[in-house]
Amino acid sequence: MKRIVMITLVCAALVGFVALPALFAADAPKADIVMKSPGAATQGTVTFGHAKHGKQKCEDCHHKMKESKDMKCASCHNDLKEKKGDKSYYNAYHAPTSNHSCLGCHKSMKQGPTACNKCHAKK
Ligand code: HEC
Ligand code: HEC
Ligand code: HEC
Ligand code: HEC
Repeated sequence: MKRIVMITLVCAALVGFVALPALFAADAPKADIVMKSPGAATQGTVTFGHAKHGKQKCEDCHHKMKESKDMKCASCHNDLKEKKGDKSYYNAYHAPTSNHSCLGCHKSMKQGPTACNKCHAKK
């Protein structure tokens, strides 16, 4: 009897251990996300799919996720005027040599679109 109780307890603990991380980590949205500037857009919208980026790690893009639960880039990259710098909205997506930016990663991996009209829809 004691033994069965012990085994049950151990099993319950194991299940909890495996299930907990899944409860805390937000899943990536399955549907495509249509991204557009919070300001006056000069370009058409960009459709981003997590499904097409399944081989990349969350933190390759959400590079501050250990410090902040906010998954929206523009929460921090909210300077719509500057094209360069840490707060620049534009730079977050086009920084040419950063693997965190759309363009930078596509360039360094030689995969994914790098032409404006392959990401931006016609306006
Ligand atoms: C790999 C995808 C990708 C490519 C290639 C790309 N962009 Fe973007 N761009 C984005 C994303 C994502 C945003 C943020 C969503 C938005 O504002 O449309 C953005 C936003 C912008 C913005 C700020 C918002 C606006 O509409 O004014 C400008 C300007 C811009 N892109 C210009 C360009 C130009 C010019 C090119 C080609 C030289 C280019 N982009 C190529 C992904 C891309
Ligand atoms: C290739 C880059 C990339 C990868 C990899 C990636 N994401 Fe994202 N994710 C984005 C972009 C871009 C957005 C849209 C952000 C925005 O609207 O500012 C986004 C949005 C999200 C959102 C919605 C945020 C909101 O409040 O609307 C969640 C949740 C999320 N991602 C979770 C994840 C998780 C979990 C993983 C890993 C399994 C992951 N992402 C992997 C780029 C990525
Ligand atoms: C919680 C705030 C925050 C969020 C959310 C965030 N960033 Fe950043 N980002 C920063 C800061 C601060 C820097 C300056 C360098 C550093 O501290 O890592 C930066 C730098 C960058 C850079 C350029 C330099 C580098 O480190 O490579 C790129 C590109 C970038 N972020 C893209 C993104 C993208 C794309 C997203 C959304 C998927 C995102 N960031 C979400 C705060 C944030
Ligand atoms: C860390 C690397 C990385 C980052 C960051 C990244 N991508 Fe990609 N992207 C890839 C790779 C690799 C592929 C090729 C995937 C494939 O063909 O299976 C790709 C493919 C794509 C495609 C083509 C999908 C298709 O239908 O074939 C689009 C569109 C795209 N990315 C948009 C974006 C946008 C927009 C962002 C920024 C918000 C972004 N990517 C950020 C690595 C990245």
